[in-house]
Amino acid sequence: MTGITARKSVAVTHRTATAAASAAVDVIEALLHSGGLRTLGVATGSSPGPVYREMARRQLDLSEVTLFALDEYIGLPDGHQESYRAVVEREVAHPLRVPPARVHVPDGADPAAYDELIADNGGIDLQILGVGRNGHIGFNEPGSSFDSLTRVVDLDESTREANARFFGSLAEVPHRSVTQGVRTILNARRIVVVVSGVDKAAAVAAAIDGPRTEAMPASVLRDHADVTWFLDEDAASQLRPPARDGGDA
Ligand code: F6R
Repeated sequence: MTGITARKSVAVTHRTATAAASAAVDVIEALLHSGGLRTLGVATGSSPGPVYREMARRQLDLSEVTLFALDEYIGLPDGHQESYRAVVEREVAHPLRVPPARVHVPDGADPAAYDELIADNGGIDLQILGVGRNGHIGFNEPGSSFDSLTRVVDLDESTREANARFFGSLAEVPHRSVTQGVRTILNARRIVVVVSGVDKAAAVAAAIDGPRTEAMPASVLRDHADVTWFLDEDAASQLRPPARDGGDA
């Protein structure tokens, strides 16, 4: 497995999303077993699902790890099954044996407290990220300041439409969320980005090969010293050719 060394970020292409997820879990597992994974930032949505399932399949024990969700909808009733607290508990904490007291989710009533809580826990050792079709990371939509901290934001209509698949209808998708800021995300020691599908190919190419601009939030990831993109072939299909070298089967 090789990557792109000319860029700060490394992009590794795998034939399938399952293979990409497995490679991402190799990184997470190595960090866990070296004792370097005390805090884990977790994205929700479709992209990291195969990562969490593979972690569970390998029976990784995260009972000593503290989880920090990337974001949370605002306005859903407590316990709603699509709230990100519920998703993190169901898809990550429960299968990986993280006790409920170690699961943290940002609170729209006091967003700044989340950055303090992360700092009090020594910062995030590894952040798992997905990327939106418009290039958002967390719910930092295009135009978000690269210096932003955890805060309440409006969701783009395209994001609400993309996420309507998790709800009964578009009308049920909240309009606002609380998200780790771009700076909060960059403060993580290590970042693993997992992206699959042709509908993300343009965002991936813009983030890795295009200009660094707040119009494309994921382009900020090149500022980070330790970020690895795990892509399937579809997500990598619009990258400049060198970035597609070196993937596995
Ligand atoms: C989720 C999150 C979002 C998603 C992104 C991609 O916690 O912060 O940035 O990672 O919207 O979502 P999927 O993977 O569902 O396409």
